[in-house]
Amino acid sequence: MQLTTQNWQELEAKYYMRTFNRLPLVLVRGEGARVWDDKGNSYLDMVAGLAVNVLGHCHPAVVEAITHQARTLIHTTNLYYTTPQLELAQLLIENSCADRIFFANSGAEANEGALKLARKWGRLNRNGAYEVITADNSFHGRTLATLAATGQPKYHKPFEPMPAGFVSVPFNDLAALKAATGPQTCAVMLEVVQGESGIHLANHDYLVGVRQWCNEQGLLLIFDEIQAGMGRTGKFLSFEHHGVEPDVFTLAKGLAGGVPIGAFLSKEAVSILSAGDHGSTFGGSPLACAAGVATVGTILREDLAVHSAEIGAYALAKLRDLQSRHDLIAEVRGMGLMLAFDLKTESAAKVVTEGLKRGLILNNTGPQTIRMVPPLIIGKAEVDEAIATIDLILAEL
Ligand SMILES: Cc1ncc(COP(=O)(O)O)c(C=O)c1O
Repeated sequence: MQLTTQNWQELEAKYYMRTFNRLPLVLVRGEGARVWDDKGNSYLDMVAGLAVNVLGHCHPAVVEAITHQARTLIHTTNLYYTTPQLELAQLLIENSCADRIFFANSGAEANEGALKLARKWGRLNRNGAYEVITADNSFHGRTLATLAATGQPKYHKPFEPMPAGFVSVPFNDLAALKAATGPQTCAVMLEVVQGESGIHLANHDYLVGVRQWCNEQGLLLIFDEIQAGMGRTGKFLSFEHHGVEPDVFTLAKGLAGGVPIGAFLSKEAVSILSAGDHGSTFGGSPLACAAGVATVGTILREDLAVHSAEIGAYALAKLRDLQSRHDLIAEVRGMGLMLAFDLKTESAAKVVTEGLKRGLILNNTGPQTIRMVPPLIIGKAEVDEAIATIDLILAEL
């Protein structure tokens, strides 16, 4: 069957589960910070596959690694040792506070593994405690357990009852977290920068306080670095800004530059999963891990976290300047290349569609909030281009 340009949206409407309100854009190619649609139009991509394409689209190091690995060994099973998996494990452990790692295939799966570890911890060390305290407006995934961990009731409603063992408390509120802790609590799980709900930063004192509370109470502290990790906030891992180390943290999204992957990592003292406790058919596959080695290697070699900090600071200053000229902007937030601004009206979706008309890809996390999580390789020229386009759009709203 010959497919014309027009067919794609019709095919989606006919065959795909009605899970996505897609934008009218058929993307067929990407290179660096730009993508092209099926009509040949190019776009500056300030969303980067939702914080996945950290090295931009089709980075030569990732393409080369995938191509080489695809010719060598794509998949076996975790019944055997494979070399890219162990190379990536070594790279991540030697560049973080963790001692052990398990590879999964997505962020939700990585968090599921961390949650299982926390439950086993509770069983072994806290009298069978199983409850995990999370934060309001957090996002931890779409599987049942990670959805229950997600502090946004709007996502729970259609699927209730949620699995037991999760309670969410206001973010940046240590007293609330302490009040929610009981004999049933085994862990606290937080994003250092909440991404999906619109880039909300944890306070330094809050994180220090949570770490201390977990130490006092014998609770595991889990940081979800799935969106904020991989150099995006200006450090390789976002908790490094605060000098606070978790017992467990999770990675996914940018870890393999666009190839599906996830991981949970833990300190030796809490690495309590043993043979038979957990597993994965695809997790840690040679293909994904080869892409991961290329991605992490490039981030570290090229100091892309430092670059993110510099370009992010430049972009934040530009957004603040925009705010000073547009009364419509209520607030600007950001850390490195996790950036957002709130509008005073519910026009974020309109800003996104106007952006597309002008060759700019943005994301609205809610009716009033625009998020930008561009590739870490963008430069000042791309930031200037994005800001100039947003400036034009806001002037016309
Ligand atoms: C902080 C965080 N955790 C977990 C997830 C879930 O990751 P995935 O969609 O790969 O399951 C996301 C996805 O947006 C996320 O931002």
